[in-house]
Amino acid sequence: MDRLKSRRTFIKKGVLFGAGISLLGSPLYACTSNKSSRKLSILILGGTSFLGPHQIAYAISRGHSVTTFTRGKTKPTIHADVFDKVEQLIGDRENDLSALKDRSWDVVIDNSGRKTEWTRKTATLLKEKSGLYLYISSTGVYFPYKSDGIKEDTKVLLKTPEGVSDDILKMNYDYGVMKATSELAAKKAFGVNRTIVVRPTYMFGPGDLTNRFIHWPIRLSKGGNVLVPGKKDDPVQYIDVRDVAEWCIRLAENKTNGTFNAVGPSKSMNIQGFVKEAASAFNVNNNLIYVNDYDFLRKNKVYYIVPWIIQDSYSYGSARISTEKAKESGLVYRDLPNSIKETYDWWYSDALTDDIRQRFEGNPNTILAREQDIIKKWISTNKK
Ligand SMILES: NC(=O)c1ccc[n+]([C@@H]2O[C@H](COP(=O)([O-])OP(=O)(O)OC[C@H]3O[C@@H](n4cnc5c(N)ncnc54)[C@H](OP(=O)(O)O)[C@@H]3O)[C@@H](O)[C@H]2O)c1
Repeated sequence: MDRLKSRRTFIKKGVLFGAGISLLGSPLYACTSNKSSRKLSILILGGTSFLGPHQIAYAISRGHSVTTFTRGKTKPTIHADVFDKVEQLIGDRENDLSALKDRSWDVVIDNSGRKTEWTRKTATLLKEKSGLYLYISSTGVYFPYKSDGIKEDTKVLLKTPEGVSDDILKMNYDYGVMKATSELAAKKAFGVNRTIVVRPTYMFGPGDLTNRFIHWPIRLSKGGNVLVPGKKDDPVQYIDVRDVAEWCIRLAENKTNGTFNAVGPSKSMNIQGFVKEAASAFNVNNNLIYVNDYDFLRKNKVYYIVPWIIQDSYSYGSARISTEKAKESGLVYRDLPNSIKETYDWWYSDALTDDIRQRFEGNPNTILAREQDIIKKWISTNKK
């Protein structure tokens, strides 16, 4: 139950939060940001939180023009420097799309889709005068994750099953169903040949204020006994937000249509491999303590440390999603240690206030705060 609750919290936060700044240089960014031969006009529904600013920075660097559509509440602090080159329209997807009327764009990117109706309305409004519609969905459409190697053509639920009385479980279903039916709404308006659907897994990177992934950069920078949760072969999947952002723009440039999982890493990885590789971002001694007993982890309220999530019948396939189609379509990945280090640098940069950092690092309920006690218990349990 608690695990599902935590999953729900992720989803909720993933949808509702996000602000930050990223002016961090990246070698891959530099080498893929040459000008595009086709200049596009791009409308981003959203654009000012986490994924959006990275899309905008890349699009501008490729020579495209960008318009955003938001309520004007979330301030663009990621890549803040590029926003003076962005046309910023104000409205509300709930009830005021007037700023979009009688306008046309080559590409519409729908980042802020939180209700099927929102996507239906914007796609219907924009379909005659705009070229492509790129909808940011989620691997949440595959919930519950029952199988291995989930591909894009896997049948997804379009309705929350009857009789789901648990509200947390229901929320997981509802989120997946909302994303899946929004995909259909986009396709219905624009047609399949003019629609791109991108389904990201857990995204992390500079600008992520959901506090889901930051555990690892902070923890691995400190050294000492590090709790590594789960069984050796528990798979993990994740993706640097910048890899998704830049690939979205390239898909649009290439007028690619279709549905794509936005999932990494390139090769399958388990939690132990993940922690070892991530730890190499820092020059400190980490003593990895493998806590591989699910009952012990549950008892100590360790249900997840993203990208790891405890394996059960609902989550089994959540980190076993196929990456093949995306890679064939040009998705490339940054190195994990670089992503970890750049996320760490962003977290401790002037872009964030001490107050923001403290809300996470000073929270006694986080695993960061409880880790050493859990490790002590684990060691004493195993000595018996
Ligand atoms: N984070 C993850 O790991 C993850 C994983 C899978 C899928 N996703 C999906 O990725 C997408 C990208 O999210 P993001 O936050 O990074 O995108 P973003 O485009 O950077 O920011 C979200 C934008 O939505 C705008 N917005 C919110 N409510 C609005 C409304 N009623 N009318 C108009 N604009 C509104 C916000 O601005 P204002 O507040 O100023 O309106 C903000 O600009 C989401 O659809 C999410 O479900 C995320």
